[in-house]
Order: sequence, then C-alpha cells, then structure tokens
Amino acid sequence: MGGRKMDMSSTSLYIIVFTLIFHLVVAKSPDSTLYRPKRSYDVRHRSKENSPDNALKHANDRPGIFATDNSTVILAQIGGTATLPCVVRKFNTGVISWIRKDDHRLLTVGLTTYSSDGRLLVEHVRHLQNWGLLIKHVQPSDAGIYECQISTHPPTSIFVILKVTEAVAEILGAPDLHIRAGSTLRLVCSLKHSTEPPSYVFWYHERHMINYDAGVLVLDDRSSSVLLLHETDKSHNGNYTCSPSNAVPASINVHVLNATAEEKPAAMQHANTSTSSSTCIVFNFSVPVSLTVLVLQSAWER
Ligand SMILES: *[C@@H]1O[C@H](CO)[C@@H](O)[C@H](O)[C@H]1NC(C)=O
Ligand SMILES: *[C@@H]1O[C@H](CO)[C@@H](O)[C@H](O)[C@H]1NC(C)=O
Ligand SMILES: *[C@@H]1O[C@H](CO)[C@@H](O)[C@H](O)[C@H]1NC(C)=O
Ligand SMILES: *[C@@H]1O[C@H](CO)[C@@H](O)[C@H](O)[C@H]1NC(C)=O
Ligand SMILES: *[C@@H]1O[C@H](CO)[C@@H](O)[C@H](O)[C@H]1NC(C)=O
Repeated sequence: MGGRKMDMSSTSLYIIVFTLIFHLVVAKSPDSTLYRPKRSYDVRHRSKENSPDNALKHANDRPGIFATDNSTVILAQIGGTATLPCVVRKFNTGVISWIRKDDHRLLTVGLTTYSSDGRLLVEHVRHLQNWGLLIKHVQPSDAGIYECQISTHPPTSIFVILKVTEAVAEILGAPDLHIRAGSTLRLVCSLKHSTEPPSYVFWYHERHMINYDAGVLVLDDRSSSVLLLHETDKSHNGNYTCSPSNAVPASINVHVLNATAEEKPAAMQHANTSTSSSTCIVFNFSVPVSLTVLVLQSAWER
C-alpha cells in the first residue's frame, strides 16, 4: 500500500520534472515561439509593417492589382532608412510611379528618380514585383503620405503613410544614482522609438569617452548598451552620458559614497536595489536546468 503510493508520487514527480525541462529547453531556443515575445516592441512593430513577406502573404487572400495593403503605415527614425513597400501582382505590366501626396511632387517613374533629392531611390526586385521607395537619411519633413501609382487606364494607386520617430536613449535610474565605493557601477542605456540599431554607442564620463578605458566593459545589443565599471571610487563620481550613433543621448549623475559613510543610508539602499533589479534582466537558464537534472537523477536512483 505504502509502496504503491510512493510509486504514484514519483511518477508525478517525473512528469513535473520532464515538463519543466521541456519548457526550459524550448524557452532557451532562440527560434522557439516562446522566445519571440522577448523582442522589443519597436522591432516587432517594424518587422510587421515593413516585412515584404507580410505583404506577400496578403497576395493570396485578396484580389486586386496591388499585393501591398492600402494605407500601410511605415515607421522610420530620423537619420535612418525608410522602405515604403509597393508590391504589384504578377501580370500587371504598367509603369509604377511614386508621388508625394502633400505637394503632388512626382518622385520616381519606373526606375528613374525625378526628384532632385538624392536620398530617394526605387528598390526594384523584379521577380517579386516589388517597387519599394527607399528614403535614406530620413528627416522629420519626410513624414506624410506617399502614393504608389500604376499606369492602368485609369491609373490605380495605393497610399503608404510614413511616420518619422526620433530615437532617444534612456539610462535606467536617471537622473541620480548612488553607489558604494568599491562596488561595480552598472549603467543600462536603452533605446526608445528606434527602428534601427545604432552602429555604435559611446559612453562619456564628463567629457571623456570611456568605452576603451581600463576597468570599463561595454556590452551592446540591438536596443541597449550596458556599461560596467569595476572597483569604483570617488574619482568615478559625476555625469555619465550614453550617446548612440543615431539617437538623442542620455545622462545620469553617479554619486560614489564612502564604504563607511554615514552620508546617506537611504541612498545606499537605492544603490543596492538598482543593482539587483538590473541583474534580473539577464535570466540564466543553465542553473534551473542542471538543478532539475539533479532532482531527476536522484529520483531514478531511489
Ligand atoms: C486606396 O485608398 C484610397 C483612398 O484612401 C482609394 O482612393 C484607392 O482607390 C485605394 N486603392 C486601391 C487599390 O484600392
Ligand atoms: C551631463 O553632460 C551632458 C553633456 O556633457 C549634458 O548635456 C547634461 O546636461 C549633463 N547632465 C547633467 C545631469 O548634468
Ligand atoms: C570619504 O573618503 C575620503 C577620501 O577617500 C575621506 O577624505 C573622507 O573623510 C571620507 N568620508 C567619510 C565620511 O568617511
Ligand atoms: C547591499 O549590498 C551589499 C553588498 O552588495 C550587502 O552587503 C548589503 O547588505 C546590501 N544592503 C541591503 C540593504 O540590501
Ligand atoms: C549561466 O550560468 C552558468 C553557470 O551557472 C555560466 O557558466 C554561464 O556562463 C551563464 N550564462 C550566462 C549567459 O550568463
């Protein structure tokens, strides 16, 4: 009786453990659907709107000349590149023109750019019937409605709406951060409203660029940059600026307090909470996996 009960509970233990491992392994894989929601809002938003795949998908469920949705909205950041999609269905052989709706300015006809603005270019992929309009070095004044017109009789058009955003940097914990002397300064700079990753991020202490200084480590990814500075002392006090190549910079004032200071006990706690909260951003799956494997092994051995 007792032995049977034991078997039941170990069986359910195995099921729980296997389920856990399965979830951890699946969650760890970068291709899995569980991983996907972690991508930033900006990236998801953009790929949904800009992706030619997305435009092509619509090709099968709606008849008409254009495969691109009418009134498609495209986001582009100042200084970035905007790609306004215009995919025409096969067997439509008319000439494609791009027109700016606000001032009725003719921008392109076929592959020829009529505008004197050297930033404009048609990105034609023949087998995809794509006649996207590329706008380089996007400016706020580029925002507006663009018309992609095909020379049918009468001409048929779709409209693409370009929205221009300004990417800005943001440092967690700004405007003031208090840390204990001897501890590690960890600053996280994230990008808001960006549609493209920066080509570099420079960090400044007061006026000096410190990316390559001794004791400094900078870790970048698509939408954030982390500055690590070990063994801080009073000389590390002051204004830190995160300056991405394509975004408005952000600053934070760092106050390094004596290890023994009675200076500001409340502020010291602030330093602790900010360190622990930023550490949580990177969740390490290796530990729980090895733990569950250990539990599993001991369960089998019983
Ligand atoms: C797209 O929408 C505009 C009005 O917003 C309309 O005039 C035009 O005919 C539409 N184009 C197509 C291909 O349906
Ligand atoms: C820090 O420095 C930057 C540039 O040097 C300046 O624009 C910013 O106002 C300063 N921030 C503070 C909080 O002093
Ligand atoms: C803080 O450190 C500085 C030099 O490192 C020292 O002169 C000062 O007395 C210290 N203050 C406190 C409150 O310990
Ligand atoms: C702050 O962190 C230090 C070491 O990192 C620790 O010794 C101290 O107990 C922490 N204080 C609080 C209030 O958590
Ligand atoms: C995760 O933790 C393991 C040890 O527990 C370590 O070897 C590994 O480098 C860590 N991975 C990351 C991404 O921090």
